[in-house]
Parts: sequence; C-alpha cells; structure tokens
Amino acid sequence: MKIGIIGPGALGCLFASRLFLMENKQNEILLIDHNPDRAAMLNDQGIFYESDDVKQLLPILLSSTPVETGPLDALFFCVKSHDLEQSLTFANPMISPDTLLVFLQNGISHLQIHKRNTIQGIPVFATSSEGATSLAPGHIQHAGKGKTYLGFLSHQQPKDTNRLQQLVAILQEGDISSKVSSDILSRIWAKLFVNVGINALTAIYNCTNGALLTLPDALNTMKGLVDEAAQVAQALGITIMEDPIEATITVCKHTAKNKSSMLQDVQRQRPTEIDAINGAISLLGSENNIATPHNDGVISQVKTIEKKYHEHTTP
Ligand code: PAF
Repeated sequence: MKIGIIGPGALGCLFASRLFLMENKQNEILLIDHNPDRAAMLNDQGIFYESDDVKQLLPILLSSTPVETGPLDALFFCVKSHDLEQSLTFANPMISPDTLLVFLQNGISHLQIHKRNTIQGIPVFATSSEGATSLAPGHIQHAGKGKTYLGFLSHQQPKDTNRLQQLVAILQEGDISSKVSSDILSRIWAKLFVNVGINALTAIYNCTNGALLTLPDALNTMKGLVDEAAQVAQALGITIMEDPIEATITVCKHTAKNKSSMLQDVQRQRPTEIDAINGAISLLGSENNIATPHNDGVISQVKTIEKKYHEHTTP
C-alpha cells in the first residue's frame, strides 16, 4: 500500500516511524506537510524516533507537493480538528475515490465530515491512545504503547471493509496495536469523555494530568464536566462503554506526568481544541435541553487564556 500521513506532529511522526521501521518494505510510507520549509528541513534532518528499545534517525520521505505525490491508498490525517478543512483541500490531489481517509482528531466536531458529498475517498474514523511526545520538530518520544481503533461511521461495501482490514494488518506489522471497531462512535465518545475531563482543566490550572487528582476543586469540576458529557451522550443514544468518570481518573493516573495536548497548546500559544471537545458538549447539550454549566465555564476560561496570546503580541 502507498500510505501517507499528513501532519508531522507527535502522532504523525510516531505512525510514520513505526510503519517505516516495519520489516516488510513492500509498503511506501510518506509524511506530508503543508509547510514546504519545514518539509525540506525534515527531509534533510530525518525523523528522530525514540522508544524504550529504539533510538534511531529515520530517513522518512517528506512531501509538501500533493500533485507530485499523486493518489494514495490510505491517508492518515494527524492534524488538529480546526486544521482539518484546510488539510482536506490541500490533500485533494492525493485522494482518489478508493483512498481510505483515516481521521484521528480529538473531539467530535470532525464527525460530520463523511456526510459531505464533496469529499472523495472513504472516511475511516479512529482513536488512538499511543503516547507520543514531541521533543523538537521531527523528534519524538514514544512514551507509552496504546491501542488504536479504526472503523466506519456509515455502511461500506465489502471491498472497502477488506481494505480497512488490510490497513489494520499493516499497522499491526508496524507494532501499532490496532483493531477494526464495529462501534467506532462509542470508542470516540469514550476518548471524548477523557479529553472533556482532563484537557481544559490542565490548561486552566497549568498542571500535569496527574496533578488534577491532587487539587480538590479541579477534581470536582472534572467530575461535573464528564457527568455533563455522559448526560449528552445518553440523550443521543451513544453506548457508554465504561464508567466515564472512573475511566478519566484512570487516564490521569496512567498519564500522571503528561502535559495534555491542550496545556501544550496554551504553553506554545497555539489555538486549542476547546471547541471540538468541551464546545461540542455545550452545543449538543443546548440542542438537547441539557444544562452544561461546568463545560460552559471551562470554555470561557480557556477562551480568555487564548485571547491573552494576542494581547501579548499586539503592541
Ligand atoms: O489530549 C491529550 O493530551 C490526551 O488525549 C490525554 C489522554 C488527555 C493524555 O494527555
């Protein structure tokens, strides 16, 4: 298969590295970056991959010219949800009606994308709990092994199901523990509960995931945030796979030293995913007559933090 991974951030570099390190070299692996300067820099430098057993500089090919790359068999979108529209437009020359488009965004605001009939390719939705930390551009640390689930949100033809199975087999060969999920929506919501409970609070309290459990106010708010999300999920008929508050607390313990992606965004003064995570709960709550005061509160606090970036840069 010819596989592209768009977005050379932590998760994108992790997937590209694991697939590149695979013994079977029949597949072609390509990292794609819309930024030509960074693509050129990473092409010269290579991708530095660190894990417990490997520390290697990998000569993974970077492309910033989709027309030259041409259609791919599978394309992983490892970009933030607010960059997805732009990435789809940029990636268009690499997408044929048969290309599997794998969406790995946090939150749920990207889930309507498969309903757009302008999109070519076959949308696959995925969640991953692989722990990847970006140490510098093109330098990642594989902090902890996780699980990746991939599935369709709408009915697909058997030939597409077979191709997804084929892609999952390649991921497994690359030591990315993966599975096809017949209920990817519930998996996405399970990850959403965790992100709803952790990400905004770590940005507000400027603390690691584990520290949230030591701050009584933060812990109470976390429970309120996740409880509101669970009420919304119930109203929508989403299957809740496990106790979402317990699951969130467990993730805090397992990733105690992690800085959440939202805390990292705030520290680097980048746009956060607040709209795709807590924003989605607040919006769906109001559409379903469910009050979401905890989520509304953290949304406004994170937006206030984001506004301050501009105050610091405007003379
Ligand atoms: O977005 C994140 O940072 C991660 O999804 C998680 C699970 C909260 C761990 O930091």
